[in-house]
Amino acid sequence: MRIIKTNDVTEMSRKAANIISAQIILNPKSVLGLATGGSPIGTYKELIQRYKTGDLDFSTITSVNLDEYKGLSGDNNQSYRYFMNHNLFHHVNIHLENTFVPNGTIEDATKACSDFERKIEVVGGIDLQLLGLGHNGHIGFNEPSDSFSKETHCVELTQSTIDANTRFFEKSEDVPKQAYTMGIGTIMKARKILVIVSGEAKADILAQVIQGPITPHVPASILQLHHDVTIIADAAALSKVTL
Ligand code: F6R
Repeated sequence: MRIIKTNDVTEMSRKAANIISAQIILNPKSVLGLATGGSPIGTYKELIQRYKTGDLDFSTITSVNLDEYKGLSGDNNQSYRYFMNHNLFHHVNIHLENTFVPNGTIEDATKACSDFERKIEVVGGIDLQLLGLGHNGHIGFNEPSDSFSKETHCVELTQSTIDANTRFFEKSEDVPKQAYTMGIGTIMKARKILVIVSGEAKADILAQVIQGPITPHVPASILQLHHDVTIIADAAALSKVTL
């Protein structure tokens, strides 16, 4: 694991955007694995800025997203499709038909998940996967459990994840209870992985991810076994890690 320590979240976002920009420039046909949530917002803003200054071209980029709430359509403003459209896709020249988010409106979970897993294969696999880190160590919506998940699947969200996501909804009852998510196996197949983490609230879990045992009870700890992982974290998030 390559660990890059930054002073704050702004620097974290800029450095993450540097790595994604390099990926896009060096391979304009890259398949980017993208994440939603609070962590990547600053990174997406940086990428939009670089597109506007003419430094980045997304016209031949493909993207696949980690996850989506089951039951929400793309025009629901809490869906992850909506988030991606509004925080990145609508502001750059990526072709929307080359952007893939699991389809939350497909009721048949087996079909929704196998369609998505096949889509990742058809586009050639993920060149660079961007990840945020959940407070409980989840990546995508792979919650702590007794085993590592393999492919894209449907999950019941844990109460801690529902609580963490309540901030985006009017009330906690509105937070969907299920989601479609890439599996740990899907994520581990990405050629490169970039994790962004900020804030003191994630210091304990980040220390477990980096220095603790590899266990499905801390799903992101599996990243210790990936051959090309970069973690960019601010000083607060890294405060419990002895570098
Ligand atoms: C988002 C995702 C989640 C988040 C994680 C951190 O697509 O899959 O794993 O990355 O919950 O969320 P934030 O960044 O909001 O702290």
